[in-house]
Amino acid sequence: MSDTTIQAPKGVPEYLPPDSAAWLAIKDALSREAVLAGYGYVELPIFEDTALYVRGVGESTDVVSKEMYTFTDRGDRSLTLRPEGTAGVMRSVIEHRLDRGQLPVKVWYAGPFFRAERPQHGRYRQLQQFGIEAIGSEDPVLDAEVITIADRGYRALGLTGYRLELTSLGCRECRPAYREKLVAFLDGLDLDEPTRERARINPLRVLDDKRPEVRQQLADAPLMLDHLCEACADHFGAVRALLDAQRTAYVVNPRMVRGLDYYTRTTFEFVHDGLGAQSGIGGGGRYDGLMAELGGQELSGIGFGLGLDRTFLACRAEGLTPGPASPLDAYVVPLGAARQRAALVVAELRAAGLRTDQVFGERGLKGAMKAADRSGAPVVVVIGERDVEAGVAQVKTMSTGDQVPVPLAELAAYLRKIEEIQ
Ligand code: HAM
Repeated sequence: MSDTTIQAPKGVPEYLPPDSAAWLAIKDALSREAVLAGYGYVELPIFEDTALYVRGVGESTDVVSKEMYTFTDRGDRSLTLRPEGTAGVMRSVIEHRLDRGQLPVKVWYAGPFFRAERPQHGRYRQLQQFGIEAIGSEDPVLDAEVITIADRGYRALGLTGYRLELTSLGCRECRPAYREKLVAFLDGLDLDEPTRERARINPLRVLDDKRPEVRQQLADAPLMLDHLCEACADHFGAVRALLDAQRTAYVVNPRMVRGLDYYTRTTFEFVHDGLGAQSGIGGGGRYDGLMAELGGQELSGIGFGLGLDRTFLACRAEGLTPGPASPLDAYVVPLGAARQRAALVVAELRAAGLRTDQVFGERGLKGAMKAADRSGAPVVVVIGERDVEAGVAQVKTMSTGDQVPVPLAELAAYLRKIEEIQ
């Protein structure tokens, strides 16, 4: 490789064949659950007015204060590559007045997000999420629906090595009083200056400190869950009862800390044990003040973002390869003057919905069969001059080596039958 070879930017994962098939299957499996629950697809801008995130996500969060890719465009506007999806959905719902129609507004999205984090295994600067947002209802049934969509999506992929952690972060009625209690408690501890500073900006975040000496001191810290107002406690109880009733397993983690400021009430994370430090494969929660904060109506909302990169790693850690076992259904090998007829056969098979590729260029039988083998197709269709005259193709099943002549007119139906059997 010469010095001038250009490489992908640091911290940007790429998904190439054959792995990318699993990637697509993951996105499909997760989004299928949202479609089944009536969520509509939204395609939103990759960059937005910087103010959207400063106001929506919170100036004091790491995401906004340290990790945004912000630039000034030619018209001197400050724009930011989207670090997350919820604020953009909210902006769009307000701008296009979706909140004036049927409530809740239920949408899903998928695509890249950008955070200038220190790259490591499972932590990227361009990350991909599949997310949903449901706006305009406080009903705990909606909380359970949102959580279940994520859980069912992971299960559909075959994942088992994760747990759902759940808590309630209270509301604007009960959180301020709790916050005061926590600040008073933290004031009495022996903390270093950076931790004190963190406590000043957002005391809740200190609860997540992983250092043993800090953890020890935090053992008796007051917890939001013990200080919920009646309405929040009832709401949380109802969400739990719904999850219990539909047998969605969860653990309550009253010390959960989310990296974004907008959360209220139900808040959750999916944590996978096979991923090392970056174990959060998805997370979300309610954000009851966000819409008003962004200039919209006083409507509550709830949603999640599932990390597609980390879900991909989680599947790999569990030995799962979602998606089709082979990238092709059939591979066509034309011999000699049969090439023109074979090209028509390829087109016919594709039209019949069979994933079909063929050998290109002049190759001998040996080279062509090697290409067929490498293609990964379970079935190879060899068409020679004599076959064309006889109106047949030789269909070779790669797993057994069996070869049978099949009339060209029946080829698609024959291959489809084999595919069904396999
Ligand atoms: P978040 O927890 O910041 O929430 O991100 C959601 C998921 O995206 C994480 O659980 C993780 O799997 C993945 N993720 C985040 N950062 C990275 C990274 N640097 N590299 C790889 N994966 C990453 C949100 O973004 C909220 N908007 C979710 C939400 C929607 N809450 C309510 N509605």
